[in-house]
Amino acid sequence: MWMLALTMVSAFTSTTRVLAQRNMVLNAEVEIVFPNKKKVMVEKGSKLSDAAKKAGFKPNYACSEGKCGSCELKNGSKKVRPCTAKAVGPMMLTNP
Ligand code: FES
Repeated sequence: MWMLALTMVSAFTSTTRVLAQRNMVLNAEVEIVFPNKKKVMVEKGSKLSDAAKKAGFKPNYACSEGKCGSCELKNGSKKVRPCTAKAVGPMMLTNP
């Protein structure tokens, strides 16, 4: 009986630890730097448009559907359209 109780507690603790680690990864924050040099920390996967608002940066939105390219910025050599993009990792955004 003792061994069964000990095994159950151990399994519960282990499961709880794995779930906590998974939540930490899912809720991780990433740093986004906008062309106005403002840095903001946002939850990974959140909308870049919300991050821009938080940073006080106003992209040149026109369609707001990712179609026209008027809001386009660069993250290194990659083009990013903040109207539809998400903060998938740290970003250093510059004007194209
Ligand atoms: S506003 Fe048109 S692509 Fe972003």
